[in-house]
Amino acid sequence: MLISVIGCGYLGAVHATCLAHLGHTVVGIDSDRELAARLDAGRPSFYEPEFEPLLAATLATGRLRFTGDPAAAAGAAVHFVCVGTPQLPDRPGADLSALDSAVGALLPYLNGGELVVGKSTVPVGTAARVAERLAAAGSAATVAWNPEFLREGHAVADTLRPDRLVYGSAPGDERAVAILNEVYAPVIAAGTPVINADLATAELVKVAANSFLATKISFINAMAEMCEAAGADVTVLADAIGRDARIGRQFLNAGLGFGGGCLPKDIRAFGARAAELGVHRVADLLDRVDRINLARRDRLVELTADACAGDLVGARIAVLGASFKPDSDDVRDSPALAVARELQSRGAHVRVTDPQAADNARKRSADLTVVDTVAEAAEDADAVLLLTEWREYRELGPADLAGLVRHRRVIDGRNVLDPVRWRAAGWSYRAPGRP
Ligand code: UDX
Repeated sequence: MLISVIGCGYLGAVHATCLAHLGHTVVGIDSDRELAARLDAGRPSFYEPEFEPLLAATLATGRLRFTGDPAAAAGAAVHFVCVGTPQLPDRPGADLSALDSAVGALLPYLNGGELVVGKSTVPVGTAARVAERLAAAGSAATVAWNPEFLREGHAVADTLRPDRLVYGSAPGDERAVAILNEVYAPVIAAGTPVINADLATAELVKVAANSFLATKISFINAMAEMCEAAGADVTVLADAIGRDARIGRQFLNAGLGFGGGCLPKDIRAFGARAAELGVHRVADLLDRVDRINLARRDRLVELTADACAGDLVGARIAVLGASFKPDSDDVRDSPALAVARELQSRGAHVRVTDPQAADNARKRSADLTVVDTVAEAAEDADAVLLLTEWREYRELGPADLAGLVRHRRVIDGRNVLDPVRWRAAGWSYRAPGRP
């Protein structure tokens, strides 16, 4: 099929590449011409394992190209809209301006029965609004919503082998379902289940999934607070409750909490939309989840101050990790950087390092000192903070750092180090939710 993918950020770039990999002819279009040109030259603007080689191999087939020219959408049977829907600058709702301009830019090139498929995460009701806009412009194109659940760091696998495909379409629109089945034929043939829904349900599925994940993390972090008050160990608690198949062990890692470009803004946008629709209990629930999450950052700062005998002024702090999670160079709403900035504003001398996100951290937080290696960060440190659980940091042993630091104090913000081992080597070990 001839397919256009509009918006070539994380989601769109991976989606376009994977569709071409599956055999379609795909043009990725982005209003950022430089970004499109880089992708077209095989150079992604983000770090994602597996993606760069797949991009190169797929560009070489001749079935994939990227451009800044909106006219390239002409002639495609299916247009996937993958633009960003970030948080509004001044309030918790979603900023839909990129979506609105993408639809506006597409309108001149719709002349028959094309299918416009939204993949962006949007407030419920947006798909219906897009459909009305197309109809008002006299277009015969139809609208479907097909949310994406890809995780950064697993984007290719999550796109080619998703847990499920969700199609939202107008009731009785069997043509939309048939077209999407054709788009995803190899994915479906590999056993991926398809769930058909109306437009509103499909929009809600995405935000409900992210809200559940966020709630699960905040739940275990609330238990971490309880464990701290009671002298208990949240990691053992998580292992024990996670054995119950109804609960499950995934997303029960207590620590510094969630960040990134999705969960925080999605729960806020969902809460804002729920409040608009008068569903205040959902808005309240998500507000609590958000507050519990943000409080973990304060807790890490407190733990660090405690470790430094209450005095952060002049303390030399090594921060291991800048990305919001491992295997990603994304520093959007990164808990690690938030803690680093707060420590610095309290007078500490902070040195941050990260295996992939150092450059992005420098760009986003020009006032922070970002160094290239653990050794540079840890030199003469009064405390070492592990804030993003990259494999190389999880595998650090006490002996790797002992000769570098001024004081043997480690704060394990992600609960991934072995306290027995570090304490036996003469370190003071602290972690959220552990005695
Ligand atoms: C998330 C959803 O998982 C994905 O389905 C959706 O499409 C986009 O949003 P992503 O933002 O890539 O994906 O990150 P995810 O792996 O979900 O992690 C989110 C945050 O939660 C990270 O900051 C991570 O460190 C934190 N986290 C995760 C925890 O604090 N504890 C856990 O147990 C799991």
